[in-house]
Amino acid sequence: MRSPVRSLVIAGIGIASLALLTAAVVERATPKQAAQLSDDDVLEHARESIEEGRNTFRFDTFGDEAFWGGTLRLNEAIAGEANGGVGPGLSPTQALQLGLKVDGDAIPDSLKNDIRRGVVDLDDPATTLALLKLNAVVGVTGFFENGRLTSVGIQCALCHSTVDDSFIPGMAGIGRRLDGWANRDLDVGQIINFAPDLSVLNQLLGTSDEQTREVLTSWGPGKFDAELVLDGQNSPTLIPPAFGLAGVNLATWTGWGSVTHWNGFVANLEMHGVGRFWDPRLNDATQFPVAAANGFGNLNPDLSPEDDRITPKLANLHFYQLALKAPAPPAGSFDAEAAERGDALFSGKAQCNSCHVEPLFTEPGWNLHTAGEVGIDDTQANRSPDRRYRTTPLAGLWTHTKGGFFHDGRFATLLDVVDHYDTFFNLGLTAEEKNDLVEYLKALPDED
Ligand code: HEC
Ligand code: HEC
Repeated sequence: MRSPVRSLVIAGIGIASLALLTAAVVERATPKQAAQLSDDDVLEHARESIEEGRNTFRFDTFGDEAFWGGTLRLNEAIAGEANGGVGPGLSPTQALQLGLKVDGDAIPDSLKNDIRRGVVDLDDPATTLALLKLNAVVGVTGFFENGRLTSVGIQCALCHSTVDDSFIPGMAGIGRRLDGWANRDLDVGQIINFAPDLSVLNQLLGTSDEQTREVLTSWGPGKFDAELVLDGQNSPTLIPPAFGLAGVNLATWTGWGSVTHWNGFVANLEMHGVGRFWDPRLNDATQFPVAAANGFGNLNPDLSPEDDRITPKLANLHFYQLALKAPAPPAGSFDAEAAERGDALFSGKAQCNSCHVEPLFTEPGWNLHTAGEVGIDDTQANRSPDRRYRTTPLAGLWTHTKGGFFHDGRFATLLDVVDHYDTFFNLGLTAEEKNDLVEYLKALPDED
């Protein structure tokens, strides 16, 4: 029989050698092994990125209030003379008419009930200020000091979000946020035109105040001209959705670059946030005279990292948009049998799939075409570096039927689009086949 002491000693040695062995294993972990992220770490990172990106998309002005408030003095026009600003002010009714949206979730129940009961004055600019204080105007942030609206800034959500109109039966414009949807009601030009001081734009474009305002008021709802400040031409495009872009190589109607390229572009050059931007293609003084003269191709090279309010947010902002999938159409909004026949035509007789490759509905790869290849004029294409049009991803078409189709809305309906292709490519589609194709387009994203 072993003595208890001996057993203890043996057990002790056993434990010690086990510990040594374990230590040896840990010691031998490779640097790569030590840096390994667990599946949970990766998922957690994705979740955090999406949350941060969503926050940026919805609420971040990137410091652009220095432009919209400070320079254009839009805050003064919104407030109106009665509230320390200038002019008549902007009432909620007018704001809704301009296509601005109200985030129903940001409004406390008491105010909701008052609005429903009709006891809130929607024709009083002071009510607009109250909504801004609640941070309830989608894509617009008001800055207040002692109750006075001292500045105003804008966000991505201004143009790329709308609401579901669920708040008051029969009243559009108030409801839950729908991120990534193109706001085709929004009259960006009229909103900018509302600003009392456009001298900075006049100077940039070399136009008189009257000319600048003429350009802005010519756009109409759902449109904006992102190239105006590059080339001084006036040829606005429709606001596209910012969802359904994962897997899509080049973004924008004319394929300027990736989603993140364009995010940096817009945050700096359109929204006038404070950041760095680099795109030497803008130094071409023939194609982009305004951009070249103002150094937009290398923006704020001396900005210190601490003062850059855009670059640190680009990664998560990108991540968020890629996570926004195109929403499926409501049941009953299309004829399912016709759509099925349309699906076969899309990749068959109508040859749509040769460019709109399913399920991305754009080419995997360099997804650009000359104007001649799709049978349209090259005006807008020529305002972009590659002088081409990007094959539009088609998922979620049903969310933006207002304003028409193609970059400038030249085709009022999907049938007009199909008719165009039928003629241009000599497809010989019958009326029924055209209808089937349209039903298929309305059904995208086709989830089965
Ligand atoms: C004033 C309205 C407006 C604002 C604000 C705005 N955009 Fe856009 N966005 C547009 C328009 C118009 C286009 C199309 C431009 C073009 O093709 O020339 C566009 C294009 C895009 C695209 C390309 C979509 C596609 O189909 O490839 C993305 C992505 C996008 N915007 C994201 C953003 C983000 C993120 C922000 C905030 C940093 C933002 N936008 C701010 C109007 C706006
Ligand atoms: C040669 C490549 C090519 C082919 C083939 C093609 N398309 Fe397109 N499609 C494009 C391009 C490029 C655009 C963008 C045009 C623009 O921006 O003005 C586009 C735009 C569209 C749009 C507008 C989307 C929007 O958001 O406004 C629809 C709808 C569409 N195509 C459907 C079809 C259908 C249906 C077919 C088959 C009958 C087809 N396409 C065949 C390249 C193609």
